[in-house]
Amino acid sequence: MATEAFHHHSATLRSAPIGDPYQGHREFRTLSGLPVKEVYGPEDVNISPERPGIYPFTRGIHPTMYRGRVWTMRQFAGFGTARETNERFHYLLEQGQTGLSVAFDMPTLMGYDSDDGHSLGEVGREGVAIDHVGDMQRLFEGIPLDKVSTSMTINGPGPIIWAMYLVAAERQGVAWDQLRGTLQADILKEYIAQKEWIFPPKPSMRVIVDMMAYATAHVPQWNSISISGYHIREAGSTAAQELAFTLADGFAYVEAGIAAGLDVDAFAPRLSFFFNAHIDFFEEIAKFRAARRIWARHLKEIYGAKNPKSWTMRFHTQTAGCSLTAQQPENNIVRTAYEAMAAVLGGTQSLHTNSMDEVLSLPTEKAVKIALRTQQILAYETGVPNTVDPLAGSYYVEALTDQMEQLAEEYFQRIHDQGGVLECIENGFLQREIADAAYRYQKELENHEQIMVGVNAFVEPQEGNVIPLLRIDPAVEREQVQSLQAWKQQRDAAAVRSTLSSLERACATESAPLMPAIIDAVRAGCTEGEIVEVMKSVFGTWRERPVF
Ligand code: 3HC
Repeated sequence: MATEAFHHHSATLRSAPIGDPYQGHREFRTLSGLPVKEVYGPEDVNISPERPGIYPFTRGIHPTMYRGRVWTMRQFAGFGTARETNERFHYLLEQGQTGLSVAFDMPTLMGYDSDDGHSLGEVGREGVAIDHVGDMQRLFEGIPLDKVSTSMTINGPGPIIWAMYLVAAERQGVAWDQLRGTLQADILKEYIAQKEWIFPPKPSMRVIVDMMAYATAHVPQWNSISISGYHIREAGSTAAQELAFTLADGFAYVEAGIAAGLDVDAFAPRLSFFFNAHIDFFEEIAKFRAARRIWARHLKEIYGAKNPKSWTMRFHTQTAGCSLTAQQPENNIVRTAYEAMAAVLGGTQSLHTNSMDEVLSLPTEKAVKIALRTQQILAYETGVPNTVDPLAGSYYVEALTDQMEQLAEEYFQRIHDQGGVLECIENGFLQREIADAAYRYQKELENHEQIMVGVNAFVEPQEGNVIPLLRIDPAVEREQVQSLQAWKQQRDAAAVRSTLSSLERACATESAPLMPAIIDAVRAGCTEGEIVEVMKSVFGTWRERPVF
């Protein structure tokens, strides 16, 4: 009898597979929709005997990679006032992270002081509130700035926040040529994806070239831009679009630097990148390997860079926020671990691992510790970093790397045919490509062609997903506004006025450098909002033509 029942059961199992999440819609494609063959073989690739640390660097930018130095564990962090974030920085450093990364609140990102009407309800909520150099000094209290490398995720107000960091270092007695760090400052991706711009494209490019020149002359170890694909991907792009649009932005910055009379080898070595590590494991690894090869070839063969450091594409990776789910949030620990491993097998220089609760709020201490431990387990238990680019020679990975490179080159041609990146921003081409990809993916999720565990498969009742979340006390806003008012009272009003009017003159003089005037204004205690207002009065603002 039992066997009879078993056969019956197995027969039904065979005909209607229980819990088939695809519900019969299964197609074998990557997350970005690329067809995946059942088996890859020698016919799919032409394996080159390439070595890491050698042009075109497909296998990694250093001969020894993580055997020489483990990637930087650099958790994006910031909330509340400078005091709260300083505490979180100390906590993360005590837990073993090896790089700092500052998340600013929306008012700071958009160039508003904490007491501005636009800032109400946002102060210290999505990141740390920084209004002036005093806040910056408080942010790094007890952290010697010559002993850490600091990333600052700021774009429109980039030069102002950078000036505050430089003056804070000066007040710690640290020489600027000892400073290591990165400013995101990638304004092109703001127009394309994140939408946190202030000035119109042309003056924004002038500001960026000004910072590249200033870094080259005064802060030689500083990475002047972090050319970002992360937000492009989070806006819903495919892997190939992330790769292509990010590198195209990079080429636009190179061309802007050359057009401004800079020698490409003077600034290209300090351009850096920032990519997303999404959940399709092999597609991400292929994307990173292709990125290095494309950047190396274009810098050497098209832009004539002679210094190998100009050819190397150094990047930071953040695991994909958009791959995380609010449902069954602990599953995000697993997703993040897979994505972190893809970033490492892809040769990243620096890594942020998302916390399981980041879909719901800024991370709690416990969640961010698990995210950091994920990196430490990857670095010290799995053996994955012990040899360089272990997936080289894999028929699938090499074939996918070639395919990524080819798809990117096709996009470069389409962008070139329309007159370049700025033109494609103005006409909405890049934004439309991303919107179409996002729509396609959403449809695939709804049709069960793509699976998200806990969302469209293996779903549980919602109430079971409660985890403790970080809450930002509204008192933070009052505290920050009060300290800002006190700051303004103790300043030398004449110095504030004179440095702001000097800055206005510099902005109005096309050939004048901007950083020296911004640094003087920061030293005089001017606030970010006051400086942005002066720059806006000359540069104006910009509205995007909506894309549907
Ligand atoms: N052999 C020899 N030398 C090696 C080596 C090896 N195996 N490994 C490392 N090194 C050297 C490097 O060459 C470097 O020395 P150098 O500066 O003299 O060349 C030094 O060791 C440090 O290595 P890296 O510079 O590679 O590592 P860093 O971590 O310092 O820098 C970076 C990495 C990508 C170049 C840098 O730009 C960086 O830190 N970027 C971080 C960007 C970031 O964190 N962004 C977060 C954004 S968050 C966001 O936007 C999301 C939100 O908006 C939602």
